[in-house]
Amino acid sequence: MHKSITILHNEHRSISAVLHGLKELARLALDPKVKPDFRVFRAMLRYIDEYPERLHHPKEDKYLFARLLARRPQTLPLIRRLTSEHEEGARMIRELERSLLFFEEGWPAGAYEFQQTVEEYARFHWDHMRVEEKELLPLAEHHLTAEDWKWVDDAFAANKDPIAGVRERDFERLFSRIVSLAPAPVGLGEPWKKASG
Ligand SMILES: [Fe+2]
Ligand SMILES: [Fe+2]
Repeated sequence: MHKSITILHNEHRSISAVLHGLKELARLALDPKVKPDFRVFRAMLRYIDEYPERLHHPKEDKYLFARLLARRPQTLPLIRRLTSEHEEGARMIRELERSLLFFEEGWPAGAYEFQQTVEEYARFHWDHMRVEEKELLPLAEHHLTAEDWKWVDDAFAANKDPIAGVRERDFERLFSRIVSLAPAPVGLGEPWKKASG
C-alpha cells in the first residue's frame, strides 16, 4: 500500500478514537449528579479542531485531491463535496465550542444540547472519512501514476506545510493528555466526582 494511504488511514483512526471518547463522555455528562472535568472536553475539542484542520485536511486538499482532479476531471463533484465538508466541519466545531461553553458555565444545564451537538458532529465526520476511504481512495489508486504517488507520498511523509508550524508530536502530546484526563471507560483519569448537595 502507498505510504500516503497508510498515513491517511492512521490519521482517520486517531480522529475516530477521539470522537468515540468524546461521544462516550458527553453521554456520561448527561448525569446531573456527577460534575464533569471540563478540561478533558476542552482538550478533545482542541484535538478534533486542530488535527484535521492543520495537519490532515491541508494534505488531502493540496496533494491527493489536487492530483486526482488533474488526472480525472470527472471527480470534480466528489472533490467539491469533500473540500466543502472540510469548511463545514470547521464551522460545526465552532458550534461545538459554543455549546461546551454554555454547558460549562451553566452546568448541569446544557448537557443535552452539548451531547446532541457532539453526536451530530461525530456522525458528520465519520461520513466524511468513510466517503474518503470508500470512494476517493479507490479512485486515486486507480488513476494516479507511480510518479503521482511518489509526489503525494513524499509530501505526506514530510508533513509539508503544516499550518503555523504544528508538528505531529504536538498532537501526540495532546492525545496522551486526553487519555490521562479522561475517566474510564475512555481513559485513565480520575472518575468524575459526585456533586455535593
Ligand atoms: Fe477530509
Ligand atoms: Fe480525511
